[in-house]
Amino acid sequence: EGSKLWGGRFVGDTDPIMEKFNASIAYDQRMWDADIRGSKAYVKALEKAMLVTTEEKTQIEHGLDQISEEWSKGVFVIKPGDEDIHTANERRLKELIGAPAGKLHTGRSRNDQVVTDMRLWLRDAISTLTDNALQLISTMVERAAAEVEVLFPGYTHMQRAQPIRWSHWILSHAVALSRDVDRLLEMKRRVNVLPLGSGAIAGTPFDIDRELLRKELNFDDISLNSMDATAQRDFVVEFLFWASLCLTHLSKMAEDLLLYSTKEFSFVTLSDAYSTGSSLMPQKKNADSLELIRSKAGRVFGSCAGFMMTLKGLPSTYNKDLQEDKEAMFDCYDTVHAVLQVTTGVMSTLKINQTVMEAALSPDMLATDLAYYLVRKGMPFREAHGVSGKAVFAAESKNIPLNQLTSEDLGALSPLFGSDVSSVWDYRSSVEQYSAPGGTAKNSVTAQVEHLRNWLKRE
Ligand code: ARG
Repeated sequence: EGSKLWGGRFVGDTDPIMEKFNASIAYDQRMWDADIRGSKAYVKALEKAMLVTTEEKTQIEHGLDQISEEWSKGVFVIKPGDEDIHTANERRLKELIGAPAGKLHTGRSRNDQVVTDMRLWLRDAISTLTDNALQLISTMVERAAAEVEVLFPGYTHMQRAQPIRWSHWILSHAVALSRDVDRLLEMKRRVNVLPLGSGAIAGTPFDIDRELLRKELNFDDISLNSMDATAQRDFVVEFLFWASLCLTHLSKMAEDLLLYSTKEFSFVTLSDAYSTGSSLMPQKKNADSLELIRSKAGRVFGSCAGFMMTLKGLPSTYNKDLQEDKEAMFDCYDTVHAVLQVTTGVMSTLKINQTVMEAALSPDMLATDLAYYLVRKGMPFREAHGVSGKAVFAAESKNIPLNQLTSEDLGALSPLFGSDVSSVWDYRSSVEQYSAPGGTAKNSVTAQVEHLRNWLKRE
């Protein structure tokens, strides 16, 4: 079929089902802007290499500008036979400016073009996601600062463990997200490498100034090896992995909040803005936002695993299998972009029920502090742990709270217990003991807030 960009050696038509199967234009049109930016830089390099005249370069640039305008106005017409964004833009350029359009692809392959487009696109996407994540972290940090006085039960194994500050819980998730932002920025360095000028596999035989291309397109570096540049998609995998890890963090936070928002816990109340109702049960207010946040980790990890399976064992270098990279990348971006914004909404509108949270604390959660009381009187910790455990057993046997044991009860367990043991049964002074860096005491939580505030300023 002569109308195709690659049609020269073909006499037979493409099967219509194959045509559809092969095409990526339905989704890769999202990269129209990157594609045009790449071509505008490339034509400059062509002129410098004297492969197009200055006049031809100007014609090509004007044509590309017009195509850009058509895309941005939503009037670009995709025609049958437009296989992907690269062929569509080139086809349109030929319609607009005629013969000089045929010079644009000199020395270029869709193999170096597509991966240049993807790196340009992902670079911008990473900037947006960084902003989204910083917005969320900042919301969480300010919430932690405002609610620093609130205490509630901390859990391990989902069993009541120790009293902690609610802010300490918030910050535990914010800190994980801050590492996700760090990882995103580290990854950006590896994404921001220019493949253009690598051709199909072997490089370029023309005087294409790759350094000029790098500067024009604002890349940090140029790729070192044309085979690697055209066929590696590790930067996509890295992004999919990043998305999987970030959403794994958020799924964990969502799960905590789902539990805390049940009637049984009633620690938090989700805003109506992030809840939905039941079509049958009038009383229902479901935390669908949190459930969807929790769910999306599965979706992106599925994309990551799926795409890695596609890559596994591929022969060098470009193979059409690689076309699968784009839907995975776009879908992960859209998913993380939405999740980060919804989570910010949830976290900025959530109401906490401080009275319920603090009423949920119970003296058994101070059994560790009871052991520390004995440690402070000189008892080795292992022994103190045993004595406190016996106290817990005694209270349970008598069916009374741990702090209701009499001085006789405690005295029978260790002579080190004095009347000052009553100071153990105070949740606020309990958390204040945990004042080493990283702990749940007010000074330590405030230091965490300050640290993250400074980190946010630095980003
Ligand atoms: N649409 C293709 C892709 O996404 C562009 C590269 C095509 N290259 C080729 N040699 N057929 O991978």
